[in-house]
Amino acid sequence: MSIALLYERSENDEAGIKQTAQQLGIDLKFIPFRKIAITISKDGFNAKTKGKDYLETFNQTAVVLNRAQSKNRRLQASYIMEMLDKKTINTSQVEFTCYSKLRTLLKLWKTGLPVPKTVFVPCDASDFMKNHKEIHNETDIADLFQTEISLDAGIVIKADAGTHGKMIMLSKTREELLTNIKETKPNIINPIGVVAQELIKKWFYDLRIIVYKEKGKQPFCHNKALARAGFKDFRTNTFLGNLVFEAKLPQNVINLASKCGDTLGKGSDAWIFALDAMINVVDNKQIDEASLKTQLDLAAQAYIPVQKVKADETRLTDFLAWNNRLEQTFNTYANSNSYQKVKSVIDENIESNENALVFHEANSCPEFWENTRLVTGLNVAIPLLKAAQSLIG
Ligand SMILES: Nc1ncnc2c1ncn2[C@@H]1O[C@H](COP(=O)(O)OP(=O)(O)O)[C@@H](O)[C@H]1O
Ligand SMILES: [Mg+2]
Repeated sequence: MSIALLYERSENDEAGIKQTAQQLGIDLKFIPFRKIAITISKDGFNAKTKGKDYLETFNQTAVVLNRAQSKNRRLQASYIMEMLDKKTINTSQVEFTCYSKLRTLLKLWKTGLPVPKTVFVPCDASDFMKNHKEIHNETDIADLFQTEISLDAGIVIKADAGTHGKMIMLSKTREELLTNIKETKPNIINPIGVVAQELIKKWFYDLRIIVYKEKGKQPFCHNKALARAGFKDFRTNTFLGNLVFEAKLPQNVINLASKCGDTLGKGSDAWIFALDAMINVVDNKQIDEASLKTQLDLAAQAYIPVQKVKADETRLTDFLAWNNRLEQTFNTYANSNSYQKVKSVIDENIESNENALVFHEANSCPEFWENTRLVTGLNVAIPLLKAAQSLIG
């Protein structure tokens, strides 16, 4: 029985998983999920693309690494595979939780883990009555939010199932709040209602922490996190052009993150998450921002060659050579003076604010090849494949 990589499009992460499987001597099968017609009928089950029959691959598969990128497709894929008696990483139960930021936060909150104050109003910004008349709920929703979170502190409205910083909006005034609530029409990334959160007074970075579990073993949290940093936007997302740095995690944070994983993965034998966390630093900052900004600008200069390699399309034709170049240019960036300076500011700041950390999202299918792996030294494909092997064992 084999491990199969279920994917939508073969990107760097998939190429990286493939390369890692080869290195580990694992015979990996491939399921190009988007292209396959899955049939159930009185004659049984079938799976084929226009050019190829996948029944044999399905039959030989014991564990599926679910790398479908769209949350909806991923949830569907895990569920289908489980109905076909396959093990999945992650399970459909886990996908169901991680699909929604609110569901994730509810679970963490219930276990007593630190999360941002979050308010959910299950009513949409506007509704249509039977006679097609539109009713506006924005002011009522805004009032409900404002009774719980003050506008002076800042109210963040977010799409419950969004990714890449999409539809994450900050309001500091009543007008902004109303405008932002209006933006949250029910759609695929915000199926129902409006989610608001207190603005966490983080500094210039937030964290992505990797936790995982193999069957029969304790949860494990990698001791280095990916810090995404910059002053460009309150959303410190790499997708929005921020820089990346390695961040050392204090033991207390490692323990909390392991507990988060355990909470979210409850009921499944093996799992993996990239947890997003912020630190409510407020004014506990160790250096002045002017000199920090100078270092960040220098680091941004040092990062340009990395960005150039990332954008280079030769990765599609010669992944190995491209990856070697990526590693080399990244090492030059990571060894630069400015990188090391910013990194030490982040490390020190985490250390002195470790009790102010909150978890705000769990990603069940994290991108890792280009940032997490290079920055933290953890090739996430290894725990992913080992977790899958533990389910066959
Ligand atoms: N409550 C908040 N306070 C401050 N910043 C926030 C808050 N929520 C989100 N952000 C910022 O926006 C980014 C994206 O938000 P997140 O909830 O992780 O959604 P996404 O799914 O888009 O990654 C976070 O990494 C963080 O920098
Ligand atoms: Mg996030």
